[in-house]
Amino acid sequence: MLNLQDYGITMWEKDKIAAFRRTLLHWYDQEKRDLPWRRTTNPYHIWISEIMLQQTQVQTVIPYYERFLDWFPQVADLAHAPEEKLLKAWEGLGYYSRVRNMQKAAQQIMDEHQGHFPSTYEGIASLKGIGPYTAGAIASIAFNLPEPAVDGNVMRVMARLFEVDYDIGNPKNRKIFQAIMEILIDPKRPGDFNQALMDLGTDIESAKNPRPDESPIRFFSAAYLHGTMDKYPIKLPKKKPRPLHIQAFIIRNEQGQFLLEKNNAGRLLGGFWSFPIVETNLISKQLDLFETDTNHVLETVSQKAVFQDTYQLMPQWSNASFGPVKHTFSHQKWTIELLAGHVSQPTLKSDRQLAWVALADFDNYPFATPQKKMVQAYLNHLENATP
Ligand code: ADE
Repeated sequence: MLNLQDYGITMWEKDKIAAFRRTLLHWYDQEKRDLPWRRTTNPYHIWISEIMLQQTQVQTVIPYYERFLDWFPQVADLAHAPEEKLLKAWEGLGYYSRVRNMQKAAQQIMDEHQGHFPSTYEGIASLKGIGPYTAGAIASIAFNLPEPAVDGNVMRVMARLFEVDYDIGNPKNRKIFQAIMEILIDPKRPGDFNQALMDLGTDIESAKNPRPDESPIRFFSAAYLHGTMDKYPIKLPKKKPRPLHIQAFIIRNEQGQFLLEKNNAGRLLGGFWSFPIVETNLISKQLDLFETDTNHVLETVSQKAVFQDTYQLMPQWSNASFGPVKHTFSHQKWTIELLAGHVSQPTLKSDRQLAWVALADFDNYPFATPQKKMVQAYLNHLENATP
């Protein structure tokens, strides 16, 4: 067990810990948000909510959560769901490995636990895609086990309470906050204790606009009492996402259908459908160097050539390119230029996974956010181009 003194942290006496639990839970009982996953102790439901909430705000999650349960009411339904429906259920939420892992975990529950959600911390943590935070959240909320759920919100609140001088962005330091929480957590109401900190951390004790004077636990907080709220938590800057320039091709056939491609499994956005895209970073670097019209022409010609070669199609290109569409992932920042064309020979010879799809049928294909933005940019372009 980690010794908090080694990290410059002095834990409170028993009475203060008891008073802290009372104060926090009393506030939660008065102020807690009424959320759909708080009206249940079903571990399957709580699991879904916790996975969705990892990178997404509560208000966005609610409709996804309800639809997910509607489509996959039991663990078995998730375990057997076809890939396209699975991705459709997650469409727009991002970080799609989350839902793929959920399906694998659902299969584990069917195969290894006879369809019953495991009810111990170790059993929960052994499921695919479930790390210590999620295991703690499910164990405490669904099974009332005294397990902390340490995420960024909890680390921020703890860092202020104890003036923790360690970077909350460094995963190595998580164990410090875990050790604090193992002592503080209320063994009688662990799920509520964890969720109270989540509510506090997303609102009154938020990262960007904290309102420390309104915090129910301000008089327990070393940072509040010492006037050091500005310093805590310590959070060092992260690496910026890498910029990528991308060309997208919006190709129509004589029936007015569009060429879509399914991304390869295992790649970024694997399994999703999109207009064909090509990365043009190298060419645009040259452009930055010369910035002449000749180069621009050269660039567009070579991109068209790449397209023609890759997809074995010879479109008639429209003159205008449009966009750009911008989309930022955690590690990449895409700037997408769109180029439209049409073809009269509809047969697809390339060995890629391609399909001709009418606009009205786009809803039947899982689209990630960049593709949704591209469709919107294309529709706006059409609108502006029509007199
Ligand atoms: N964020 C993560 N888990 C949550 C929960 N159970 N309630 C509210 N916000 C959350």
